[in-house]
Amino acid sequence: ARLVVLVSGSGTNLQALLDAIAADPGYGAEVVAVGADRDGIAGLERARRAGLPVFVRRVKDYEDKGGRAAWDAALADAVSSYEPDLVVSAGFMKIVGKEFLNRFGGRFINTHPALLPSFPGTHGVRDALAYGAKVTGCTVHFVDDGVDTGPIIAQGVVDVRDEDDETTLHERIKEVERRLLVEVVGRLARDGYRIEGRKVIVP
Ligand code: GRF
Repeated sequence: ARLVVLVSGSGTNLQALLDAIAADPGYGAEVVAVGADRDGIAGLERARRAGLPVFVRRVKDYEDKGGRAAWDAALADAVSSYEPDLVVSAGFMKIVGKEFLNRFGGRFINTHPALLPSFPGTHGVRDALAYGAKVTGCTVHFVDDGVDTGPIIAQGVVDVRDEDDETTLHERIKEVERRLLVEVVGRLARDGYRIEGRKVIVP
């Protein structure tokens, strides 16, 4: 399967996918391009180091050209030019719009650092901690038109420790998250899947 990975930050989830692909010829997927919504991030550096094509589509470059919807269409066009089977949002900090979902719905995966439906949104780790949750974790799910609301593929659990702050907790979540994402993407790529309502069925 051909993967396009979207990043906004450090790109350790991207790196985990690249490492898994390099280590296992039978993994079943390859990253064909990496996209971002901003320049100058470690995630893009990781992609370049791996010799992959990268593209950047910044919302602010579309302010005079139709705004958010134009950005969304431009992002979809860029992704589409690499003909992906799956698109992976790995720490991509933008909500995509209608056009992107029309074109990639049902094959667009996101990873979120909390146990959805608890603590959706930008601050999943901070919100779980502030709430006083004793367990949290990560969720790999398909993207729909809500914020972190799409059908869940897999989840991983992480205990919250009394001494945790947002950084320490997020680091432990990310260890689980990287393994989970690698496992899920490989399985979907190798075995195929279907989505029935909210259920994701992998044969
Ligand atoms: C992950 O925890 C992701 O769920 C969150 O941001 C982090 C991205 O990390 N939204 P990285 O860029 O893959 O290192």
